[in-house]
Amino acid sequence: MIHRLMNNNITSKDRDVLVKFIQNTDYFTNGKKVKEFEEKWSTWVGTKYSVFVNSGSSANLLSLSYVKSIYEDGEIIVSPLNWVSDVTSILYNGFKPRFIDINLKTLSMDIDKVINSINKKTRAILITHILGFNGLKKELIDICKKKKILLIEDVCESHGATYKGKKLGSFGNLSNFSFYYAHHLSTIEGGMVCTNDRKIYEKIRIMRGHGMLRESTDTNYKKKICKKYPKLNEKFIFIEPGYNFRSTELNAVIGINQLKRLNFNNKLRNKNHEYFLKNLDKKKYFTDFDLEGSSNYAFVIIFNKNYRKISFRKKFERILFKLGIEFRRGTSGGGNQLRQPYLKKHIKINKLNINNFPKTDIIHNYGYYIGNYPNLSKSKILKICNILNNIN
Ligand SMILES: Cc1ncc(COP(=O)(O)O)c(C=O)c1O
Repeated sequence: MIHRLMNNNITSKDRDVLVKFIQNTDYFTNGKKVKEFEEKWSTWVGTKYSVFVNSGSSANLLSLSYVKSIYEDGEIIVSPLNWVSDVTSILYNGFKPRFIDINLKTLSMDIDKVINSINKKTRAILITHILGFNGLKKELIDICKKKKILLIEDVCESHGATYKGKKLGSFGNLSNFSFYYAHHLSTIEGGMVCTNDRKIYEKIRIMRGHGMLRESTDTNYKKKICKKYPKLNEKFIFIEPGYNFRSTELNAVIGINQLKRLNFNNKLRNKNHEYFLKNLDKKKYFTDFDLEGSSNYAFVIIFNKNYRKISFRKKFERILFKLGIEFRRGTSGGGNQLRQPYLKKHIKINKLNINNFPKTDIIHNYGYYIGNYPNLSKSKILKICNILNNIN
């Protein structure tokens, strides 16, 4: 039995629309299709503005660069159970990450601990919604507003998940999405930054395109800056320290086509998830997730306390490997970022702080994900559950 992390995420229909597009256009880079995808994505998420970029990591970096455009230094509260770019975006922009352990029910940061760790240096809270679970709570949203702390949502793994009936990604000052091949919606590679704030939108657009003034859609602002720098060519005014994170019309065409089936696919994935949780041995595996508003794209497998042993882990991995069930230990982000070599070069990690994240370490050592895609049959899910349940 072969069970991949992702299956057929770029369909024959996606390929057909792409071929047709290529045959009928002579404009390939950031253009009309990118704009159309951005508008459709904004409507789908429920935000005013979206900026299409070439990856979720670029979205992360742009969001933190926006924070840098306001604050010289300070701290960003972030989860150690994360993707590498959530942490490196903080470091590259000269901020200090303040790590907060997770809540096993959401796999996101423990909100009480987040609130307790807010201090005068806190500039932003970067909350990552892991594997389709909602990490938000009213208390967090309220305190961010009250204390004027920026809330950034990383929704790369959670397209379509909701909190109080509203899509994740519509709560933060900025939100980041990834359209990597294995995610709910894929443009092969790609990402999006969403916001409701016109000023943030303009800045993100500019920073996406080399920091050039001409990327702004605000004519008054452009006029003002051109007047201020009369000696500069108005097509070449680099007003922000920018990047080239643009994507192409081709990727946008795939995204527009994928968006048509995203809701339908998410429903199928969520049904698969329910069936998976129903059939998984609750003595052996943790299933007590906070499922409200969740939008799953990969099944999470976490060993319960009595099974958190290296011998069980070895057996588990050997059996899955032998049977062709692809998996990732540490879930999607590779586990506890503090245990990754790159971070040691940037912050002092000692025994005390590395052992301060026991819940994250459970996932690091005994948490996995395997694929959940729309065309997965019930019988295959049952077969996988039986295999997992019979490991001793
Ligand atoms: C939570 C999270 N953030 C950011 C990213 C980065 O996205 P990308 O692979 O598109 O750069 C990922 C990647 O899977 C992710 O899981």
